[in-house]
Amino acid sequence: MLVLTFAVAGAGNCVELEGMPYVFARTRVASLVMPVKCAHRGGPLHLAEFIGSDTRLTCPWHGRRVSVTRLLAQSPPAVRRGNTVTAVFRVPAGTRHTIRHLPLSAALSAAGPRPGGAGSGP
Ligand code: FES
Repeated sequence: MLVLTFAVAGAGNCVELEGMPYVFARTRVASLVMPVKCAHRGGPLHLAEFIGSDTRLTCPWHGRRVSVTRLLAQSPPAVRRGNTVTAVFRVPAGTRHTIRHLPLSAALSAAGPRPGGAGSGP
């Protein structure tokens, strides 16, 4: 396992592991560390919005919808503390990673609830 701490917003808000970027997102439904490649054709889910739904994000490339609940099921365990989040990724400890910035849509940077998981402290 690999434990990484990164920013919840701004510079350094994205960690990339084995070609998959993850960001911390605060939605109306939940706060989570989510993979940002759409399952359809790798579209930028970090730019997804809620269109016609309160619980399903719409990918900006082809309009496929993905539920926040499904993303939550795919997200690594994480705890947010202030401006950082620490997540546990199920990859070998030595796995190379990069930390960089990705802009987030309004839907993913909204002030959402702070349920268990990434939205709350221990
Ligand atoms: S890549 Fe997301 S809907 Fe096609």
